[in-house]
Amino acid sequence: MASLISSWASQVNTVPERYVVPSEKRLNINVPIGKDIPVIDFSLPSEKIVEDIIKASQEYGVFQVINHGVSQELIADVLKVCEEFYKLPMEELEKYTEEEEELSEFEPNLDQKPKLFIENEYRPKKNGKNDKEVIFWKDTFAHCTHPTKEDRISSWPEKPEKYREVIGKYSEGVRKTRLKVLELMCEGLGLQKDHFAYELSQIKYLLINLYPKCPDPTVTAGAVEHTDGGFINMLLQELGELHVRRQKNGQWFAVEPIPSALVCINGMLLKVISNGKLESGIHRVATNSVRDRISVGCLTSPACNGECIIEPARALLSETNPPKYKPFSCTEYLKIFFTDTSEFEAALNPYKL
Ligand code: OGA
Ligand code: NI
Repeated sequence: MASLISSWASQVNTVPERYVVPSEKRLNINVPIGKDIPVIDFSLPSEKIVEDIIKASQEYGVFQVINHGVSQELIADVLKVCEEFYKLPMEELEKYTEEEEELSEFEPNLDQKPKLFIENEYRPKKNGKNDKEVIFWKDTFAHCTHPTKEDRISSWPEKPEKYREVIGKYSEGVRKTRLKVLELMCEGLGLQKDHFAYELSQIKYLLINLYPKCPDPTVTAGAVEHTDGGFINMLLQELGELHVRRQKNGQWFAVEPIPSALVCINGMLLKVISNGKLESGIHRVATNSVRDRISVGCLTSPACNGECIIEPARALLSETNPPKYKPFSCTEYLKIFFTDTSEFEAALNPYKL
């Protein structure tokens, strides 16, 4: 069986064994729409926005932004180009898959070349036994988008014809929105507004996820519950299968699909820098039996091939707010993140104080 789910999903009537999630990890696909997951209007005055972002980051670790400056036309072009990408002939797509390895990890580094892969849960432990593997019902295409040096863009797909132009424009637009979000978070936390700029947010990735139409969404997962490893993921989702867990009572809600909104999902590093004041968003993705779903994530991470150290922002610490995490190397943290999925914040456990 070919490795990309989209290459065979439409030909099966039942879910093959390797894609069936064990019962204890299954998703309830009938969760209500989270009407109070905040939708933040960026055309409003910034004091109001700051307050809403901080509140949302505490209640869900997730919020949506509208009127963010990336145009509807551009967003429509992005979704179209992503759809066309996955419809390219297999020989074209195989340029981005790895030959030997059926399952391969996406490991962030500044020179991440475009890569097309499938993802599994219960990742093989490097030194031995591993749990039963379950493969998610999704294909992902990922590459670095920033800094946008010419040589990097030349590694992006030449087909579809408009890919480079559209994705280049989009990632630049999202970068500006993301900088604004991070600045407003700093304001709300009482940090200098450029605290996340430079080293901490040096790498930007684009993740284009395709969740093919699935014969039985009750036994599969687009992604099981998890938190993202970096700072923030700004996600475009045209359908509604993204679920978010409310921090307070553990209830799950579907994020309402709002055309052209960007869903901001806080990553674990934001939790560390804010010394626990901002939560990371616990989320998962269901599959659906009606049509393919595409989502486009823009992730921000520190440069992790250097010696980037992550720690709670010192300006926030005091006798009454002692550090909750000790300083750690981002490289080391990411190694744990990619190999230990035993619990949401497994990668932070060694650093908790
Ligand atoms: C992810 C993720 C959500 C989605 O890529 O980490 O959670 O809706 N994606 O695709
Ligand atoms: Ni995620």
